[in-house]
Amino acid sequence: MGPLAVTQLLALISLTVAMDNGLLKTPPMGWMAWERFRCDIDCKDDPENCIREDLFRDMADRLVEDGWKELGYEYVIIDDCWMSMLRDEHGRLQPDPFRFPGGIAKLARYIHDRGLKLGIYADMGTHTCMGFPGTTLDTINIDAQTFASWGVDYLKFDGCSSNPIEQMLGYPLMSKALNATGRPMAYSCSWPVYVGGLPPKVNYSLLGDICHLWRNYVDIQDSWDSVQGIVEWFSNNQDDLQPAAGPGRWNDPDMLIIGNFGLSVDQARAQMALWAIMAAPLIMSNDLRNLDNSARFILQNKVAVAINQDSMGIQGRRLLQEKNHIEVYWRPLSHSASALVFLSRRTDMPSLYHTSLAKLKYDTGNYEAYDVFTGSTVTGLNATTQFTLSINPSGVVMWYINLRMTATKSYFCTLWRIL
Ligand code: GLA
Repeated sequence: MGPLAVTQLLALISLTVAMDNGLLKTPPMGWMAWERFRCDIDCKDDPENCIREDLFRDMADRLVEDGWKELGYEYVIIDDCWMSMLRDEHGRLQPDPFRFPGGIAKLARYIHDRGLKLGIYADMGTHTCMGFPGTTLDTINIDAQTFASWGVDYLKFDGCSSNPIEQMLGYPLMSKALNATGRPMAYSCSWPVYVGGLPPKVNYSLLGDICHLWRNYVDIQDSWDSVQGIVEWFSNNQDDLQPAAGPGRWNDPDMLIIGNFGLSVDQARAQMALWAIMAAPLIMSNDLRNLDNSARFILQNKVAVAINQDSMGIQGRRLLQEKNHIEVYWRPLSHSASALVFLSRRTDMPSLYHTSLAKLKYDTGNYEAYDVFTGSTVTGLNATTQFTLSINPSGVVMWYINLRMTATKSYFCTLWRIL
C-alpha cells in the first residue's frame, strides 16, 4: 500500500471512529501490575508476587478495604504476561490456565462485585513486549470481542513487534473494534512511544479522537532519575503535549511508583505533585498489601487527588526553570483556583525561594494558599506580596491557590468541597 492510500484509509477510519463513549472525563485512577511485579511468572518460588489471579484479587481487596476506592482509585489493570502462549481453538486469546484457572471473566466479576473495574493488556504486533501472543491486524476484532465478552473495562494496547504502518492501521482499527462491541471500554494507546512521541510523527489530534489516553515516552523505573527524566521530557515538549490533553484524552507519563523502593518521601511527594499538575493518570504500581504510611498518605492526599481530577481537565505547564535548579509548575483549575508546584532539583540542602504570585504571572487580586502536603494555610496574599518557601532537595512545595472573592466566601467553600 502506497503512502497516499494509507493516509486516505486513515482519514476514513478517523472519520468513522470517535472514541467518545463518555469515559475518562478525568484521568483514570487505579492500580497496574507492571512496574512493581513485571513478568514474574514463577508462582512456585514466588507465589505472593507472581502474575496470577490471586494477585489481582488481593489488590482489589486492598483498594476496597483500605480507602482507595472512595478516593477514585477504581481500575485494577493486568499488564503483560497473563496469556497462554497459544490461542484457543476459536483463535481467541486465553489466559495461562495455571495462573488464571478461573479465567478472566470470573476475575472481572470479582472485581465488579466490589465496585471496581478491570483493565487488561494486549499488544499491536506479532508478540507482546515479553513474547506472549500479539494482536495482528487480522485478530483485532476477535480480541476486542473477547475482552468485551469477559467484561473488561479498559485496554492497554502496547506496540512491540509491529512496524509504523501496522501501528497506523491497528490503533484506529482497535478503537473501532472496541466501539463496535457496544461495551464501553477505556482505550490506552502506546502508539506514540513507538514513533518517538512527538509531532509530526505523532498526530495528537487523531490520538485524542481514537484513544482516551496514550503513553508518550519511555517506561518508568523505580528511581528518582527515571521520574526526573520523564518530567523533564514532558516539560521540554510541553508546547506539543499540553494542548493535546483534555477531558477524555490524556497524556500518560506512566505509573506512580510511590510505595516501592526507589523514592524518598520528598521524591514521592514530588511525583504525586507533578502527576497532579500534568493531569496524568494516577495508576499506582506498588504492593498495596505492604505499603508504609508515608506512601499511603501521599497517594491518598485528597487535595492532590482533587487537583489531578479537576473537571476542566487542563494540563499544567512548567512556568520557570531558575538557574539555581528550582522549577515552578502551574495548573489552572475550576472555580478560578490553581495549583503551583515548586520543585527543587538540587542535591544539597533545603533551599529558600523568594517570589510573589505576580512574578508567576498571577493577576492583581487577593489570594489564599493551602499547602497540600503540610496542611498549613497562607492568608492575605495579594499578587505582589513577597513570600519565601523552603524546598527540600528533590522535593516539592505544592500550593492549592484560590482567588478570594469576598472576605471569606470562595476559598473555604472550594477547599471544603475537596476535603
Ligand atoms: C512495554 C510497556 C510497559 C509494559 C511492558 C510489558 O515496555 O511500555 O508499560 O506494559 O511493555 O511487557
